[in-house]
Amino acid sequence: MTKPKVLITRRWPEEVEARLLNHFDVSLNTDDVPMSQSQFRDAFQGYDAIFSTVTDKIDKHAFPEDNIGVKLIGNFGVGFNNIDIEAAKNRNIVVTNTPDVLTDTTADLTLALLLAIARRVGDGERHLRGGEWTGWRPTHMLGREVTGKTLGIIGYGRIGQATARRAHHGFGMHIKVYSRSRIPSSILAENNAEQFDSIDELMPLSDFISLHCPATAENHHLINRNRLKLMKPESFLINAARGDLVNEEDLIEALDSATIAGAALDVFEKEPNVTSGLLNRSDVVLLPHLGSATVETRNAMGFRVMENAISFFNGDEPPDRVV
Ligand code: DGY
Repeated sequence: MTKPKVLITRRWPEEVEARLLNHFDVSLNTDDVPMSQSQFRDAFQGYDAIFSTVTDKIDKHAFPEDNIGVKLIGNFGVGFNNIDIEAAKNRNIVVTNTPDVLTDTTADLTLALLLAIARRVGDGERHLRGGEWTGWRPTHMLGREVTGKTLGIIGYGRIGQATARRAHHGFGMHIKVYSRSRIPSSILAENNAEQFDSIDELMPLSDFISLHCPATAENHHLINRNRLKLMKPESFLINAARGDLVNEEDLIEALDSATIAGAALDVFEKEPNVTSGLLNRSDVVLLPHLGSATVETRNAMGFRVMENAISFFNGDEPPDRVV
């Protein structure tokens, strides 16, 4: 049987790339340079599948009208807002993602962000490396306590729950949650969480707000000037979900006016560009989208794309089909 022709849009972990060769006729992007829309249009005609990732913008202009060879887009990532799902659906292209395997890793990083902003980890490291440290003193670089504080979580899916578990059982935090759908009481009970019917109610009660909802059109700029004004002045915003959930200009305004105490961000509105007003301030922690960036997880994500594609080309239903 001839192997399906597959284009991998970016460099993947070595172990995964090696295993892909056993199953597919693979074209690798060895230069790891992002592909243009016109390269995507050509790829749709020349391959059976595209294995894309969360930074590949596959919008409606990337889909040709006819002669499409691609039957499957296997997205390396749990998020798939980089793909125009309607355009894929209209052309009968199946799309899969990689849920579950990055849940713990992303929740770990969320806690790292939370601790880093509250305890001034980045700030302190810069201070020391900059040769500014003159020694211990009672008032030096005071942060904010984490243990026992209230964490407001917006979006209580897998990653939201894993974050709550760490925060509640590890740091004794009180968990308050906003989710559009009613969360079963048994799930809430696992972390002694309380569900609220509106985000606006949750904001003033939380010492930390952490975002874990998808980047739908409805959630665009979910955190904006009005919502930030509802937060406590000593509270922090954490975002390891998607950049466009937060209006970055409004966030800068809130930091400038001390409406909130700080923010820790792993994702940005226009990645890899970061709104310049964020870059030189000490009341933010900024990471380059590292949520799932461990060897173990990136391998698992790659293998998950591969397993979905193997099922698909065997004529079975891929387990992580989103379209
Ligand atoms: C995803 O999978 O959507 C993540 O953002 C990658 O870390």
